[in-house]
Amino acid sequence: MCGIMGYVGPQQAAPIVLEGLRRLEYRGYDSAGLAIIEGNGITVRKAAGKIANLDAVLSNANPEGTLGIGHTRWATHGPPTDSNAHPHTNMQATFAVVHNGIIENFADLKAELEESGVEFVSQTDTEVLAHLVGQYYDGDLREAVRKAVDRAVGAYALVVMTSHEPDHIVAVRMISPLVVGFGEGEMFLASGVPALLEHTRSMMVIEDGEMVSLTADGAVVTTIGGEPIDRSPVDVEWDVEAAEKGGFDHFMLKEIHEQPEVVAETLMGRIDGDHVDLNEVGYTDEFAIDLRKIWITACGTAYHAGLVGKQLFEGLLRIPTEVVYAHELRYSDPLIEPGDLVIAISQSGETVDTLVAARLAKQLGGRLVAITNVPGSALSHEADDTIYTRAGIEISVASTKAYVAMVVVQYLLAMDLGQRRKTLSAEDQRRLGSGLAQLPGALETIIGHDDAIARVAETLVDAQDIYFIGRGLDYAVVMEGSLKLKEISYIHSEAMPAGELKHGTLALVTEGTPVVVVLTQEATYDKTISAVQEVKARGAYVIGIGYEDDDQLDRYVDEVIRIPRVEDLYAPVPAAVPLQLLAYHVARLRGLDIDQPRNLAKSVTVE
Ligand code: F6R
Repeated sequence: MCGIMGYVGPQQAAPIVLEGLRRLEYRGYDSAGLAIIEGNGITVRKAAGKIANLDAVLSNANPEGTLGIGHTRWATHGPPTDSNAHPHTNMQATFAVVHNGIIENFADLKAELEESGVEFVSQTDTEVLAHLVGQYYDGDLREAVRKAVDRAVGAYALVVMTSHEPDHIVAVRMISPLVVGFGEGEMFLASGVPALLEHTRSMMVIEDGEMVSLTADGAVVTTIGGEPIDRSPVDVEWDVEAAEKGGFDHFMLKEIHEQPEVVAETLMGRIDGDHVDLNEVGYTDEFAIDLRKIWITACGTAYHAGLVGKQLFEGLLRIPTEVVYAHELRYSDPLIEPGDLVIAISQSGETVDTLVAARLAKQLGGRLVAITNVPGSALSHEADDTIYTRAGIEISVASTKAYVAMVVVQYLLAMDLGQRRKTLSAEDQRRLGSGLAQLPGALETIIGHDDAIARVAETLVDAQDIYFIGRGLDYAVVMEGSLKLKEISYIHSEAMPAGELKHGTLALVTEGTPVVVVLTQEATYDKTISAVQEVKARGAYVIGIGYEDDDQLDRYVDEVIRIPRVEDLYAPVPAAVPLQLLAYHVARLRGLDIDQPRNLAKSVTVE
């Protein structure tokens, strides 16, 4: 969601900025633009749509200059048009800004600026910042940015350049991410590491409430108030190759195939036979023993991972657990108390809804454990303890490998708490440990059935509506399967507990309606089969996902996808994979943009 790239150094800035924006495309966007210091002024080029459109504009009129900033915009205030694309300038075009996030009080600021004679050319909140910085400038760009930021309320990252200081970029972070890259006699700035990897490994994360000022020779970091900050760059190990597709048609498919390795990696060094060693958590045994309530907060796929977690914590630990959408938690006046454990789950660690909920949970006295995939992410800074998922960079907007890793981390966390509370017997611990160790192999087997799953997907290509059902842990999994399908195939789908169908939704099931059912939970198997029979009786076309040794399933459903037998508790991990592959193949057969579905962004940095 919105990408930022900046460059200052001896090279032509436009191609470097453009390439950086391309590396951030995976975040999702709907227009792009850049500004370059050219001669004594600023040249701005922008275009609605994909970066290819901006590239086409540049090929006719390429600005020449060695300092530039660029942006990919995901529309919030005003539609994705050329004029709403960033960068935005003041009226004299002597200042240009790009901005991620939202300025909440932009309407008041805009009214004030209009009164002073400013004419706005866009509908964005961002434009107010360009005018404000211009008005406050008195020979010192940092000071002007500081004054402008003082007036702005919101969560954002802001980058500013001016023709008055043609060798200088100033940026500010208020929640939305910013990373500085250090080159030889050149400097880079971006909203994400992938944009910088081809230029440098030496990077510095700018933290909330900080300002950075770049020239070709280096970076000066201070608080926004101007207090100096002494921080050295660190070497980032991610390689460019990891950000490429590695022979697969889409990042999503590549990431699905990476899952066996991701699970193995997530478990590595954290489990030894029956013993879990989560040395990254700092809570005490007493805290675990006294624990009476767990909260899980997250959005989207991460929330679905939390639905699995709830059943683990309640089932294994008998601790009441609530899973609350992060955007709802904030406004629900939650009954979080000191001594509660709050688990915030976020692949990116930058989802603003989750960050804000996590902050609130901490203010209320909860102990915050973050489960995230991105080292150094904002959520990890917020948290008392962070457990990393080790899924590696996830590029496809539709999350797959991060989901399974988030689920697996919760098994480890449940075992760690059980160990400390001494409520799990040695036998339980051993059984749980060996169940986890089987998961990478089980995933390998399912991925080997990809062709068969692709054939089943053919039966869904023309569907209008698809229903997903399951019970208990199977219900948690179908929630994720349904989201995966709708976000990349654009087919409407709904997931529900199998028992709920007959309370209303069954009215929509008619001849040929596709229903996907997951059947891995022995305790509710027969009841779920009853629901299958109810939909079959109305003519539904049923796809069943069950264990390889389930010899009843064929009798009730039209298509069977089999997964290796694991303990029921662990079934969400293997059962998620055929659902991911099903969604992938349906979207592929429909010829859609799988890695960047319309209207969506990888990292949702607005509330
Ligand atoms: C769907 C998907 C989203 C994210 C959600 C939260 O495939 O990826 O639903 O799960 O936007 O993102 P994170 O986990 O980064 O907080």
